[in-house]
Amino acid sequence: MAKIDLSKYTNVTYINHPLVKHKISIIRSADMPTNQFRQIIKEISILEGYEALRNIPTKEKEIVTPIEKTIQPVVDAKSLCFVPILRAGLGMQEGLLELVPEAVCGHIGIYRDEVTREPKEYFCKLPNPISQRVIVVVDPMLATGGSATDAINLVKEKGGKKIKFVSIIGAPQGIDYLHKNHPDVQVYVGCVDEKLNEVGYIVPGLGDAGDRIFGTK
Ligand code: PRP
Ligand code: URA
Repeated sequence: MAKIDLSKYTNVTYINHPLVKHKISIIRSADMPTNQFRQIIKEISILEGYEALRNIPTKEKEIVTPIEKTIQPVVDAKSLCFVPILRAGLGMQEGLLELVPEAVCGHIGIYRDEVTREPKEYFCKLPNPISQRVIVVVDPMLATGGSATDAINLVKEKGGKKIKFVSIIGAPQGIDYLHKNHPDVQVYVGCVDEKLNEVGYIVPGLGDAGDRIFGTK
């Protein structure tokens, strides 16, 4: 964990939990097979999701218990929208859907140009209407912050207002860039690493999250 002062960011939460730390440590290992990597990404997302979804809307529902009829709170699943940034965000979406299986999902396709590291958008499908929903954008890696910033720009262009961004490993530079561009967005990170290397990878990081989730390298 890098020694940066996250308290200077009004909306950045570090999920400080030994289970999250443990699981992030073990997926860093280059030896971990794809199926285990994907499974642990899902488990981390469930743990982070528990925290990130702390203040989501609930509604009243009538429940008949063995004793009597009662009105109790349930999650208003349709007011929630999970938006993975393709590809690696799909691994986190799986975890969040374990928590709220009836949530609505959007998808944003962005990849980083291998030379410039600039994000390139290739797909965007979001629910309509979106303005009243809590939009949870997910991507395990927050490196330069370009992909997350652009994805949130797209959500805002379509009318999204209540936006959260959940990632697993953040670089100080990416957290700073995202917060500067979207200070209104609540950002959650499981770990803050040291830095980016000369080709824009997080150090020590875990390599290319999309390739590791889908076994493409
Ligand atoms: C990775 C990652 C993020 C992005 C982070 O995706 O999943 O989307 O890089 O980098 P940034 O903060 O510098 O923008 P990648 O571009 O490798 O696409 P992929 O998931 O399709 O492999
Ligand atoms: N994207 C990744 O998948 N890994 C990094 O370290 C940086 C960007």
